[in-house]
Amino acid sequence: MSAALQPAPEPESGALTILAIETSCDESAVAILRQSGTEPAEILCSLVSSQIQLHRSYGGVVPEVASRNHSLILRTLVENALDHAALQARDVDAFVATRGPGLSSSLLVGHTMAKALAAASGRHFLSVNHMEGHLLSPFLSGQATSWGSSGIKIPPHLALIVSGGHTMLVHARKAGDYHILGRTVDDAAGEAFDKVARMLGLPYPGGPEIEKQARAGDPEAFQFPRSMPGDLNFSFSGLKTAVRYTLPKVSNLTTRLPDICASFQKAVTDVLVSKSLRAAKEHGCNTITLSGGVSCNEFIRSALRDGCLSDGLRFLPCPSRLSTDNAAMIAFAALLKLQSGANGSLSEDIDPNLSLCRQDSTS
Ligand code: KG4
Ligand code: ZN
Repeated sequence: MSAALQPAPEPESGALTILAIETSCDESAVAILRQSGTEPAEILCSLVSSQIQLHRSYGGVVPEVASRNHSLILRTLVENALDHAALQARDVDAFVATRGPGLSSSLLVGHTMAKALAAASGRHFLSVNHMEGHLLSPFLSGQATSWGSSGIKIPPHLALIVSGGHTMLVHARKAGDYHILGRTVDDAAGEAFDKVARMLGLPYPGGPEIEKQARAGDPEAFQFPRSMPGDLNFSFSGLKTAVRYTLPKVSNLTTRLPDICASFQKAVTDVLVSKSLRAAKEHGCNTITLSGGVSCNEFIRSALRDGCLSDGLRFLPCPSRLSTDNAAMIAFAALLKLQSGANGSLSEDIDPNLSLCRQDSTS
């Protein structure tokens, strides 16, 4: 493709308007973010069209169903977002999409749409890592950030990212400088919530359903294992298997459902909290952030908040409305990249296995 694109917008040029598209899995999302002067970024519009109902009967995401529905809804979402923000495509400085990781057929839809919009309007195109979107989302509102010579600066911190596809502990020295300290060796935390929910007959996605049930349960009722490998990696498949073997032994499953959910949720939480606090200590971080879909979970949030409080650490959770997949976090990650001088290219391809850092220290 050889369309003439505008050069990357200059951070000094005043306002910067970014339209981002996120289609890495089963949410079609479009957001418009504006950053003026040294003000915090402002979300002018953030639309998320969830496909949960479509995938529910399959018990999980079906890639072909996901990509077809992204392509059906995306144009309308972009038009609605521009209308809502009272903007036209030519008012946008950069069109942005998620490059990976994610489902290739889903990523392609949003990535191609953003490239087409950039080419048609002669604007800048940039793509970003979905996990970087989650990682930076606690800073979108401007909390704990400062303004440096090249734009918004985030503080060094330890990031716990817990989503349906990933569980990661990352030492972030600054935006774009990441060191993965630990990750799941089997199921991601969200995947464990979804699989256990399925065993219990609860609908997809299982995380919110388990949290709801757990509110009425006793977290000490069942002693499920806490897998604590010596390093900073996570493993949740043993916990999932323990729940599976426990179920046939429970005489009245319906009445014990809240106890099972609460005990499972507590086991996941104990592992997440203890590994995060340990990682922060070992790597000299005084701030812990929490993001990703599982960070909606109030029980996990408050346990990590308490842990940070007792260890004298600052706790910065992502706002709940930005925890699950959305395009505002993608726009914000792109904003920081643009401010540091990044340039995209229309010949760039998606990468379903895109890593957060060039040298992946844990693999
Ligand atoms: O970040 P996300 O929206 O998508 C991925 O990038 O994977 O995360 C989705 C995951 C699902 O596994 C869902 O069950 C989980 O987040 N989740 C929760 C809660 N809300 C969503 N898990 C536990 N408790 C919740 N309240
Ligand atoms: Zn995600």
